[in-house]
Amino acid sequence: MDIKEQPIGVFDSGIGGLTVLKEILKALPYENTVYLGDTARVPYGIRSPETVLRYSFENTRFLISKNIKLLVIACNTSSAISLDAIKEMVNIPVIGVIEPGAKAAVKATRNKMVGVIGTEATIKSNSYTKAIKNLDKEISVTALACPLFVPLVEEGWTDGTIASLIAEKYLSNFKNSNIDTIVLGCTHYPLLKKVISNVMGSEVTLIDSAIETAGEIKKILKTSGLEKKKEGSPLREFFVTDSVEKFLNIGEKFLGEKINNIEKIQLGG
Ligand code: DGL
Repeated sequence: MDIKEQPIGVFDSGIGGLTVLKEILKALPYENTVYLGDTARVPYGIRSPETVLRYSFENTRFLISKNIKLLVIACNTSSAISLDAIKEMVNIPVIGVIEPGAKAAVKATRNKMVGVIGTEATIKSNSYTKAIKNLDKEISVTALACPLFVPLVEEGWTDGTIASLIAEKYLSNFKNSNIDTIVLGCTHYPLLKKVISNVMGSEVTLIDSAIETAGEIKKILKTSGLEKKKEGSPLREFFVTDSVEKFLNIGEKFLGEKINNIEKIQLGG
């Protein structure tokens, strides 16, 4: 098979990575894609780095077996912990969501005060702070774990009183700071954009790592000559490690389109 025709592989701990796939499909609608959601073992955000690393390796091996030309680690937790190790493990381009999000935040901030929100594991890893400081060490970064945001979104409560109250409680930590930019450092948080923006005010810029990552993938494919020709209908494949029905129910909301061609697989021992 012509390498350009090979799919882009995307994995996440579950359905959240569909927010990243959605942006990839917007930016590169003609590319073939294969998505793996490790729904049997979600959430990753509360697990130890060793466990996240092991799961990420297994996901990578599975996608490599699907003959992918580029790997996207759509999960922020996984990107934070396993990006470097996975880059060593495979010989195709690998892209995580941290670096693109960090770059966009550095570009967006006017007063060099940036907030980052994510899962406990992502925040503990310090990856966003390191990536932002690497680009501009004068930027002050305040990082905050918002663990309740993931179950909230999974439940479909992305607006209304409960979502607002939880967002207000978490983000009160940011309220009296001068932060002008917040990185949504978790796959699920783009679905809470409206609520977060209501709490923080419209003058605070929200960075959606998914959009930035899709732009970065487009650039990599172009510069490495891996772009698929803009012809034929693209192949979309989905794999999950738990119930297909459950994935479809929420997944189509995340992706914003119908999901066909889905299969349940087993990973790990
Ligand atoms: N996909 C995860 C992330 O972006 C959120 C869900 C989880 O904890 O696994 O960090």
